[in-house]
Amino acid sequence: MKKKLYIETYGCQMNVADSEVVASILSDEYVICTDEKEADVILVNTCAIRENAEQKVLKRIQELNVLYRKKQKKVKLGLIGCMAERFSTQLLKEDKVDIIAGPDAYRSLPILLDENEKDNVNTVLSTVETYDDIIPIRYASNGVAAFVSIMRGCNNFCSYCVVPYTRGRERSRDPKTIMHDIEILIEKAYKEITFLGQNVNSYIWENDYRFHHLMEDVARLNQNLRIRFATSHPKDLSDNLLKIMAAYPNICKSIHLPAQSGSNQVLQKMNRKYTREWYLERVDAIKKYMPEATISTDLIAGFCGETEEDHQATLSLMQTVAYDYAFMFKYSERSGTFAAKQLKDDVAEEVKTRRLEEIIAVQRNSSHKSNLADIGKTFEVLIEGHSKRSADFYFARNSQNKVIVFPKTKHTIGDYVNVKVESCTAATLFGKAVEEKTI
Ligand code: 5AD
Ligand code: SF4
Repeated sequence: MKKKLYIETYGCQMNVADSEVVASILSDEYVICTDEKEADVILVNTCAIRENAEQKVLKRIQELNVLYRKKQKKVKLGLIGCMAERFSTQLLKEDKVDIIAGPDAYRSLPILLDENEKDNVNTVLSTVETYDDIIPIRYASNGVAAFVSIMRGCNNFCSYCVVPYTRGRERSRDPKTIMHDIEILIEKAYKEITFLGQNVNSYIWENDYRFHHLMEDVARLNQNLRIRFATSHPKDLSDNLLKIMAAYPNICKSIHLPAQSGSNQVLQKMNRKYTREWYLERVDAIKKYMPEATISTDLIAGFCGETEEDHQATLSLMQTVAYDYAFMFKYSERSGTFAAKQLKDDVAEEVKTRRLEEIIAVQRNSSHKSNLADIGKTFEVLIEGHSKRSADFYFARNSQNKVIVFPKTKHTIGDYVNVKVESCTAATLFGKAVEEKTI
């Protein structure tokens, strides 16, 4: 009989996709379970991007130790993913985990977990690993939308970011294997895929097959399959991609374009390789090709040397772009990065907090305005599940990636429906199903 595996995933969508790869790699010997109490093996897939993310995981590892490992010695606990390398020595010395595997070492998990093998740690990074032949087991999926990883790693070395160190160099996945994954998803009646990579627009295969080529080939496969992607670096957002996005109705009209800051001197210190003006030109290009598209972003408050004027520049960038959605963070120093080694983390904690609050307030206003502007419009939405608040409502998304909740009709999960928006909050649109589509 197969043993039971419980995977707990922290951090980004990439980690969700990686956990599905891990489930597949271990599937000869293990079956996924959804209750941690039943598990023979518990793997915690971790994120190292900010200190508070790491602290949360370390607390959880301690808790899992007390709950399962010390009492029932048979439960094996493993830490996998981005925290693996930095914490391997400490956690093994303190006997907090049985095994450790970094993001490029998942193929060695069966050996690391084998009682008869003495290896229990592998944090080696690869320049070629893309897990391209592994068909992920989509154990936590709603059966409608799936992630498809198309590249791994990052070569950008933004000065604050630990990702190039935890995930290694950028490498793209063979398009034939991507297509194979997608064909399986279509057969299983999935309706939406999200291409994942740290920097998807720098996808490249054999020198000339680029991200927009892949998008076009997949868009042509099946009109009923929606395509999204995350995340794009502004410096690589090409007009070619925007043209392809505009040309195919099944490519979703939403772009996540992390700005990080609105100030040129901060952008330069961050090594973002673009200016505010260049970024705004890309935003204009998005609006020119796809006036209906939504734009979301990531912003960091209180980076090294950020002055009040720099902060105001971020707020004014937000007002100019009028983002539909944003992920907003306080700067958190990560050891090993350029910023940690060469720049001073000199913005006081309370100043970071206040600036972040101001950024959040501007964004809340902007998101609300964006949603108010949708009242009266009708969108084609894909039903993803039941609303968490009420079993009488569906939870759906439009092409612009906005959540729309509406009373259940004859339709089922996985259907496309036209919904007319009647009201909203800053986070959600509310509407009702109608026959005609007007936008
Ligand atoms: N501190 C705060 N935020 C960070 N991010 C990346 N590194 C850091 C850091 N050291 C944010 C960036 C990135 C997002 C995924 O996380 O905004 O786009
Ligand atoms: Fe980090 Fe910059 Fe790479 Fe994004 S593009 S993962 S922020 S180094």
